[in-house]
Amino acid sequence: MTITIGILGSGIMATGIVELLVSHDHAVIMRSRSQASGDDAMARIEANLARLVAKEKITETQAKQRRDAITFTTELSDLGQCKLVIESIIEHAATKHDLLSELSDFLSDDAIIASNTSTLPIIDLAVASKRPQRFIGMHFFNPAPLMATVEVVPAITTDEDVIDTVVALARSLGKDPVVVKDQAGFIVNALLFPYLNEAIKLHDNGVASKEAIDSAMKGGCGFPMGPFALLDLVGLDTSLAIMDALYAEHKHPQYAASPRLRRMVSAGLLGRKTGQGFYTYG
Ligand SMILES: NC(=O)c1ccc[n+]([C@@H]2O[C@H](COP(=O)([O-])OP(=O)(O)OC[C@H]3O[C@@H](n4cnc5c(N)ncnc54)[C@H](O)[C@@H]3O)[C@@H](O)[C@H]2O)c1
Repeated sequence: MTITIGILGSGIMATGIVELLVSHDHAVIMRSRSQASGDDAMARIEANLARLVAKEKITETQAKQRRDAITFTTELSDLGQCKLVIESIIEHAATKHDLLSELSDFLSDDAIIASNTSTLPIIDLAVASKRPQRFIGMHFFNPAPLMATVEVVPAITTDEDVIDTVVALARSLGKDPVVVKDQAGFIVNALLFPYLNEAIKLHDNGVASKEAIDSAMKGGCGFPMGPFALLDLVGLDTSLAIMDALYAEHKHPQYAASPRLRRMVSAGLLGRKTGQGFYTYG
């Protein structure tokens, strides 16, 4: 069954999730704070659709259908008709809490909110949303149209039918859903980010250049990209927020973010999205 799904946000992940949903015939209402960020998101989506047409993966007609299935708005109230809203805004607890609380007032009582948070406690988001039974984590990976796994993270308050609905949706999108307990980092980021953080420390200690570390992890472990390329892809601000959330949960030095990572974020060196991170882009 195809439905109209609301998306909060217009960044890397929100646009990837939109592209995934419209490729499976869902209609999407994407809400962002400003027309400018919406225009930017739509331009990125259009460019990706054009790329798929050029590669003959989809026809011009399919590209148009996908484009026409997306409505952009800056009004939160426009999501009121959606039975499911996926939140994918900045990884900042207070910002998410405020927006989720505001959103909830526009939705019907049975509507579901799913958060694409990487690490924040789902229960805190669920309580902030004022619908703790109808709230769940739905954690996609980057790029969302391509990566197979979706972590489905119920809060301790989440209704069973909400878990079933989100698992079924993930499967219908061609994904492989994994139901995970609500603990910081879930499975993937709890394992991945300490490794990425260690790579920065290794580099800082002069063990090897970032290029050498990336190359070694690709050739030695069969990873598709090395840790520095991956940090740039994820975004250094998001990576720092993930490390801080892991540290907040476990209070163990193993999860303390690299000082270099923190300073790069302060400097606005956020990776691919700003054109400069560990590497330079564009
Ligand atoms: N980047 C990844 O690899 C990745 C993977 C999985 C999940 N996530 C999660 O997805 C979410 C979005 O991350 P992203 O990588 O797309 O980030 P991004 O920086 O690309 O986008 C952030 C979005 O948040 C919006 N935003 C910023 N401040 C806001 C505010 N005060 N109020 C409302 N919206 C605001 C921005 O306009 C933008 O649309 C985060 O929760 C992140 O942890 C990221």
